[in-house]
Amino acid sequence: MKVAILGTGYVGLSTGVCLSDIGHDVICVDLNEAKINKLSQGISPIYEPGMQRLLTKNIDAGRLSFTTSHQEGLDHAEVVIIAVGTPQKDDGGVDLSYIEQAGKDIAVHVKQSTIVVIKSTVPVGTNEYVKRIIDEQFDGNHSIELVSNPEFLRQGSAIMDTIEADRIIIGAEKKEVAMKLQEMYRPLHVPIILTSIRSAEMIKYASNAFLATKISFINEIANLCESVGADVEDVVKGMGKDKRIGNSFLQPGIGYGGSCFPKDVKALLHTAELNGFDFSMLKETIAINDSQRRLLVAKAVNRFGNLKGRKIAMLGLSFKPETDDMREAPSITIARSLIEHGAKVTAYDPVATDNAKKIVEMDKVRFTSTISKAVKEADAIFIVTEWNEFRQMDISEIIKKMKSPIIFDGRNCLENNRIKECKTIEYYPIGRPPIIIGKN
Ligand code: UDX
Repeated sequence: MKVAILGTGYVGLSTGVCLSDIGHDVICVDLNEAKINKLSQGISPIYEPGMQRLLTKNIDAGRLSFTTSHQEGLDHAEVVIIAVGTPQKDDGGVDLSYIEQAGKDIAVHVKQSTIVVIKSTVPVGTNEYVKRIIDEQFDGNHSIELVSNPEFLRQGSAIMDTIEADRIIIGAEKKEVAMKLQEMYRPLHVPIILTSIRSAEMIKYASNAFLATKISFINEIANLCESVGADVEDVVKGMGKDKRIGNSFLQPGIGYGGSCFPKDVKALLHTAELNGFDFSMLKETIAINDSQRRLLVAKAVNRFGNLKGRKIAMLGLSFKPETDDMREAPSITIARSLIEHGAKVTAYDPVATDNAKKIVEMDKVRFTSTISKAVKEADAIFIVTEWNEFRQMDISEIIKKMKSPIIFDGRNCLENNRIKECKTIEYYPIGRPPIIIGKN
């Protein structure tokens, strides 16, 4: 099948390489010339496991190509997938300008009957809106049908999440249109759920809002565990065994970040407000997440009295491991808050440092190239992202370099038995009893 993809971000690119890998003839269109040049040479612009291999493999096989020209990209496309960005607006709503532009480009350049698939996360009703934009602009007599086909891929496992998805949602009004999309995805052998367009749009928001709420819920349980002396990791184990609850997305920490959860929860709330519906639970999900991001600083203030002149080493910057993405990363709020409290901040991350350096709120942070350099003479360590490098570090050696051996673990990634091997340490995890050994 000849497939055109508009937008080469995480979603567009992952979809492009995976569809070409199952045999389709895929062309990806993006206006960013530098990015398209790189991609055409087989160089992935993002850090994503498996991406590089599939990119070169399918370019070499002649199934995957890239262009900045809409005319070239949309020529003869049987399916056009819109995977452009849908940034957040100041009022919590969604900026649809890239989507609108994609609709106009399709109206002008598509000269054959086509199925237009919206993969970008868009508020309920957007597919109908895009159909109107296309209908207003185009003057041919070929048919253009819209399909809502949201994605559920996670950064860091985008390829696996596409190839081995739990489900594929196809929201279409006409049976033959849905069948064509089913045929496109058939080689993946993933369960397909057919719905109306509006339900498909809603499934994406409901899923992300539910997962975000699950995280905020467990973070509140963790905070309560600290007050009552319970251990949230045991609580999660006990809860997760209940099949109705499940054990995923119950990892307590310093709040969810990234390009999706924060934006999508706010967008769903905005949709509710526009429809006169008071979705108070989502307001709480957001409020809990905001205060969770401040937890490590609050704990440090509690421990030290105040943070003036204290040197804090942040280990981890990206919003989660296996990505260099800094969008909505809790590390940004933490760094800003530490600086406001008068602390000196050093930071180390295995891959996200270059992106972190571009963030204005981080301009007073001193970035280092190793864990050792970051923790040298530090009054405390904040573990912000659970990279394997931190899980595996030699804790006794690390704390020797510090001024005082104090660790606030925002991701519960250090094992208790390794902490207990240290002669002197103060270890403060989330939702678990602290471990204090020796005198500081
Ligand atoms: C998410 C959704 O999982 C995906 O389906 C959607 O398409 C895009 O948004 P992503 O943002 O890549 O994917 O990351 P994810 O792994 O879901 O984590 C999001 C945030 O939640 C991270 O900051 C992570 O640290 C946090 N998280 C996740 C927790 O705090 N606890 C958990 O148990 C799981």
